[in-house]
Amino acid sequence: MSNIVTITTNPYEGQKPGTSGLRKKVKVFVQDNYTENFVQSILDANKDSIKGSTLVVGGDGRYLVKEVVDKIIKIAAGNGVGKLIVGQNGILSTPAVSHIIRKFKTLGGIVLTASHNPGGIDNDFGIKFNCSNGGPAPDHTTNEIYQLSTAIKQYKIVPDIQCNIDKIGLQKFKVEDREFIVEIIDSVKDYVDYMKEIFDFPKIKTLLQGSERRKPFNILIDSMNGVTGPYVKRIFIDELGAAGNNVRRIVPLEDFGGAHPDPNLTYAADLVNAVKGGDYDFGAAFDGDGDRNMIIGRDAFFVTPSDSLAVLANNLHHIPYFQKTGVKGFARSMPTAAAVDRVAAATGKEFFQVPTGWKYFGNLMDAGRLSLCGEESFGTGSDHVREKDGLWAALAWLSVLAATGLSVEEILTKHWQQFGRNYFTRYDYEECPSDPCNEMMQELEKRMTAPGFVGSRYSANGKEYKVSVADNFSYMDPVDQSVAMMQGLRIVFEDGSRIVMRLSGTGSSGATVRLYIDSYEASDVLGSAQEKLAPLISVALQISELQKYTGRDKPTVIT
Ligand code: G6P
Ligand code: ZN
Repeated sequence: MSNIVTITTNPYEGQKPGTSGLRKKVKVFVQDNYTENFVQSILDANKDSIKGSTLVVGGDGRYLVKEVVDKIIKIAAGNGVGKLIVGQNGILSTPAVSHIIRKFKTLGGIVLTASHNPGGIDNDFGIKFNCSNGGPAPDHTTNEIYQLSTAIKQYKIVPDIQCNIDKIGLQKFKVEDREFIVEIIDSVKDYVDYMKEIFDFPKIKTLLQGSERRKPFNILIDSMNGVTGPYVKRIFIDELGAAGNNVRRIVPLEDFGGAHPDPNLTYAADLVNAVKGGDYDFGAAFDGDGDRNMIIGRDAFFVTPSDSLAVLANNLHHIPYFQKTGVKGFARSMPTAAAVDRVAAATGKEFFQVPTGWKYFGNLMDAGRLSLCGEESFGTGSDHVREKDGLWAALAWLSVLAATGLSVEEILTKHWQQFGRNYFTRYDYEECPSDPCNEMMQELEKRMTAPGFVGSRYSANGKEYKVSVADNFSYMDPVDQSVAMMQGLRIVFEDGSRIVMRLSGTGSSGATVRLYIDSYEASDVLGSAQEKLAPLISVALQISELQKYTGRDKPTVIT
């Protein structure tokens, strides 16, 4: 029998979850009691239901995951949790955690990841709490966790529990007069079984292997040494019969092999170059924890996440899951280009525009009003779970490619010809000093909301734009009427073009400025986004005085 020990502790400042959980450098998490305090605060925020409950625990394999799983096991035992379901070796992708919470109807889960941020001893770690619907905790819960962390005085732990997280099976412990169970599960099985229900695997297999009608479709899938490696192996190699050279970087590494595991044109340049130089029809990459995706076609034809969402929205009927559930509404985050809006209008579906952050989609899904949603930040997903899902997006694309017989580029071209095209780009200015960036945003907001701004005209490269709406975006959730204010500065022009500016909520140091540009063309659909958007970018730089405040004359990343 093991005893519960109460340890006295002092609060740390700044344990405030951002867009997606608490993210800090590893060296912050390893301070005495830092991690323990935050885990205890998560459990305290659930204190009415924690006794005897079941929680899921897993992470993306980055440095510190195993140590923190061990701490969670001991602290959960100290707080009367009945059972933990833990991925083998602490490995579970973020969408897999969401699925397992839902499948086994648990109270929630703790996800150990800093998503697409680099890993390793000198880089980032993160802890996120997901609720019983499988989705990231809503603002009121993360605020409560934060409040608790500012006043914490003690945590409860069972220090002498020894649990092997590398061995699949049940481990039972006696903690004072209660039983505490840890079940170590195969990290990929439940998720892969679910994908086989959602998609028509034999049809995708025929696409990849070829048939009398079509030559084999050659894919290249890149896990960027993140958590999706074992899932990719099981799905693409074992189930769909792909060869070893159809996948790359499928071994999860604690430092992602030095990669920045964010699937975009800059950080997944290796994949882009391999597809450009090789005989590939399709490429996909996923981030560290498996919820983001990037899709490219032959010759590395790039599909923007905003277009990817619109194309899938228009093609959901090819996917067995939606044949069963029907297609409810569509949604995107505010900065995401408005391509999906047009599909919603054409198909008569309900449409929602939410703030940045996947947590805002959950209520709409739970209320049965939302089937498919996405964000410009390389997130695409559906109501099959309550997280975005990188592998799901790749399988959804392969389903559409199999059903239509078209190439990636042909699908996009056809889509633009039917709906028009929203040209989109995002400029990131990473790790700028925080104070001047905050000041820039405040000054810009003042200028934008001053009388006379709406109606004013700006010109660049011979094009003139007249402002029709200027605000700091706020959102009222139509299900529970909760309000999220100050979600990004938005300038909309008379022709529907938009400039959006916000500060990233996922960084671990300094400020990252994001500038989003979206411009619609009804018939001129085959141009280059950078050329088409150059005038609006220059208007944005003019209005915000970004160069003056950040000292940067160019972005660090363009997507
Ligand atoms: C995470 C969230 C996404 C969100 C993104 C925004 O990936 O899960 O829902 O779009 O962060 O990041 P940012 O750095 O722009 O706040
Ligand atoms: Zn992620």
